[in-house]
Amino acid sequence: MYRARIISTGSYLPEKILTNFDLEKIVETSDEWIRERTGIRERRIAAPEEAASDLALAASRDALKKAGLRPKELDLIIVATVSGDMLLPSTACILQNKLKIKGIPAFDINAACSGFIYALSVADSFIRSGTYSRILVVGTEVLSRFTDWQDRTTCVLLGDGAGAVVLEKTRKKQGILDVKIHADGSYWELLHIPAGGSRLQTSEKTLRERQHFIKMKGNETFKIAVRTLEKLVVDTLKNNKIKPEELSLLIPHQANHRIIAATANRLGISLEKVMLNLQKYGNTSAASIPIALDEAVKTNRIKEGDYILLEAFGGGLTWGSALIKW
Ligand code: UT7
Repeated sequence: MYRARIISTGSYLPEKILTNFDLEKIVETSDEWIRERTGIRERRIAAPEEAASDLALAASRDALKKAGLRPKELDLIIVATVSGDMLLPSTACILQNKLKIKGIPAFDINAACSGFIYALSVADSFIRSGTYSRILVVGTEVLSRFTDWQDRTTCVLLGDGAGAVVLEKTRKKQGILDVKIHADGSYWELLHIPAGGSRLQTSEKTLRERQHFIKMKGNETFKIAVRTLEKLVVDTLKNNKIKPEELSLLIPHQANHRIIAATANRLGISLEKVMLNLQKYGNTSAASIPIALDEAVKTNRIKEGDYILLEAFGGGLTWGSALIKW
């Protein structure tokens, strides 16, 4: 029986920093409000010439280098994103071309902030079934292009970045032990971009009405996120017969400090066992977990044999968790 093990991680954050104080000059907000309600202090913004595949390429090269692998040694590329380079083709195909390889399958997954967990789940299934042996999974977002800089309820939350992992098959009882994904489409309107797809064609009207930007009912999303994530983490550990105190690190999607604290509190674990970097990068949607995972690896917060729990919640609504033995 095969399992999928993360053999390396990588990340890329654009250079430009946008602080809460910068935002005070753009919309009616304050550093204090943003910090207290979200935990965010600053976020990164991609350069005008940088698209999702460029961020993905930098994160992928970082992960491949650490794994000591060349791109041609990969079997599959999966990219999780809601802010891909174009509607057509997939960002995964553009990334494949930038990695200077061809032939292997490459596709995108759209599950908003849960995208990375969805992508891990698909990669895990391919490895367990023996179909592929080595898979590159990337979360990349340039949300700043879909951010309404006149809407203070969303523009203070989002940021750009990318994270990547290389998964390899193993016969040991190590790696991804359990990954679960979920959705409830009845809540799709809570977090969406109305125009630009086949529902609402791009027109002068859609541009005028600012319909190409992310719309979120934050407070409703918040309440469902807390309720759902609390149950998700407890069930994931219980189903795998792991006690919260056996967990070395919780790596949550970085949306809101209060949501993360509520989840940790429900598990009865201290915030010291939680990976938090949203103060630096804001909510980078599908990129947030691989970026946080890479930072955890780089700062030696994970060692072999540790139990790590990844969890995410986002537009769709979607949610999911991955329990890993490192
Ligand atoms: O990524 C995965 C999915 N997304 C999430 O998980 C995000 C979930 N939601 C949240 O994180 C929070 O709901 C927010 C941070 C977005 C908002 O926090 P909240 O505590 O739910 O605030 P609220 O939306 O209830 O707004 C409270 C007040 C409102 O004013 P009134 O109506 O009380 O006068 C807002 O207009 O705060 C006001 N407000 C702001 N004030 C200053 C909203 N945005 C801002 C702002 N600066 N940027």
